[in-house]
Amino acid sequence: MKQNLTIALSKGRILKETLPLLAAADIVPAEDIYSSRKLIFDTNHDNIKLVVIRATDVPTYVEYGGADMGIAGKDVLLEHGGQGLYEPLDLEISKCKLMVARMTAATPVSGRMKVASKFVNVTRDYFARQGKQVDIIKLYGAMELAPIMGLADCIVDIVDTGNTLRANGLEPTEHIADISSRLVVGQASLKMKHRQIQPILDALATAIAERREEAAL
Ligand code: ATP
Ligand code: PRP
Repeated sequence: MKQNLTIALSKGRILKETLPLLAAADIVPAEDIYSSRKLIFDTNHDNIKLVVIRATDVPTYVEYGGADMGIAGKDVLLEHGGQGLYEPLDLEISKCKLMVARMTAATPVSGRMKVASKFVNVTRDYFARQGKQVDIIKLYGAMELAPIMGLADCIVDIVDTGNTLRANGLEPTEHIADISSRLVVGQASLKMKHRQIQPILDALATAIAERREEAAL
């Protein structure tokens, strides 16, 4: 008998690109996720459910077995640390970069640098690897504002087109990591539900490869 399987999806930006990929792997929500206030959705498979939650909560749900699998940005996974998770697939969606950025005309900082970010663990690790101790200021959004207002000397944030940085008089200075969304599977779920999970991984891998081939044409 098939066991129930729950996939945690990041709401927001990633969701728009996730749903077509799931559909290509024949996993379709039973109702319109965008117009519903529900948090848990049935699908076209009796035993597969989707939960739609904040991106930062996805690795936590999967780590503790609240969901068997999840989809989240690599930025979120790096910040979480990845404990208890396998990361078998790069979904190649929501691509961007994690970068250090500062005011375009900024003068070099003397003494300890103040860095604003919502990625405090990534920021601490990145500067520690360079032997630099920095003061980290945790923010939850609009990081670009922090150097303008004198709150921080630089920021660690997502950069895609660079438009947000430019519009606010900032420039990227250091590249930390290339980011895309990843499929994660809980280590316990992979052991207990391997026979159900593997065909989903295979179908998603095929869908990703097809998209890559189409994009190359
Ligand atoms: P939360 O709602 O928890 O604050 P958020 O606002 O960071 O999360 P989104 O803006 O929906 O969430 O971004 C989700 C993910 O999309 C990020 O974790 C990152 O992987 C990716 N992402 C964010 N900004 C961009 C961008 N400008 N271009 C491409 N991908 C991005
Ligand atoms: C993200 C990120 C940057 C911006 C980068 O913000 O935090 O601010 O995108 O993209 P760009 O380089 O193409 O300008 P988002 O639009 O998701 O808003 P947020 O502040 O709610 O995260």
